[in-house]
Amino acid sequence: MTRSSPLTPHPSPVIAIDGPSASGKGTVAERVAAALGFHFLDSGALYRLTALSAMKHGVALDDEAAVAALAAKLPATFRDGAVWLDEENVTDAIRAETVGEGASKVAALPAVRAALLDRQRAYRQAPGLVADGRDMGTVVFADAVAKVFLTASASARAERRYKQLIEKGNSANLPALVADMQARDARDTARAVAPLKPAADALLLDTTHMDIESAVLAVLAHYTLCMARSKQGN
Ligand code: C5P
Repeated sequence: MTRSSPLTPHPSPVIAIDGPSASGKGTVAERVAAALGFHFLDSGALYRLTALSAMKHGVALDDEAAVAALAAKLPATFRDGAVWLDEENVTDAIRAETVGEGASKVAALPAVRAALLDRQRAYRQAPGLVADGRDMGTVVFADAVAKVFLTASASARAERRYKQLIEKGNSANLPALVADMQARDARDTARAVAPLKPAADALLLDTTHMDIESAVLAVLAHYTLCMARSKQGN
């Protein structure tokens, strides 16, 4: 894999968008990618697919070596706007709360994170990539030209998730969602490897009182600024 140096910028720029669950980063990242005609990586989907694959194979989620072996050979593809594991369409299955919970457990295992590293980096292709996750700016694409850390208060994020669930016809309990959100944040922030935290050079964007459009515009403006700076050699 070719690496960029300060003198030879990588030909395919990366915009790294990190943040806690339900901060809106997935939607923002997808729209930024569409606006620029860039590729899009939903890295959380890879952790969700790993957890789902372990559940299907009866592998315990804390069996690090066995889960990492599954992650290294994940028969997953993203095509036709859907996510596939082998020949099964798992687009909805990976969004289940149990799978999200499982993803956050397997994501704490260093060997699993290592097994998914090259796969994530392979998404970096011309003309550029928008990558969404927890450690895009700190680990996977530490040389990203633009980094954004998207946050919102736990109650605002829980309310957004609540609305999504109700709109899809599911039942939901707001206090339980707030508690789940806080538990997952705590696990993602406290883990030893690649914890959830803003990169030192990330733009912090608090979307508690911001709509999606404004967040997308803020990320695009930040990217334009970062590209201009990198061309000046700053
Ligand atoms: O973003 P999403 O909620 O789909 O991610 C599911 C879980 O995968 C997160 O709770 C987090 O624990 C883990 N994850 C991670 N690193 C990433 C993306 C997701 O640890 N880059």
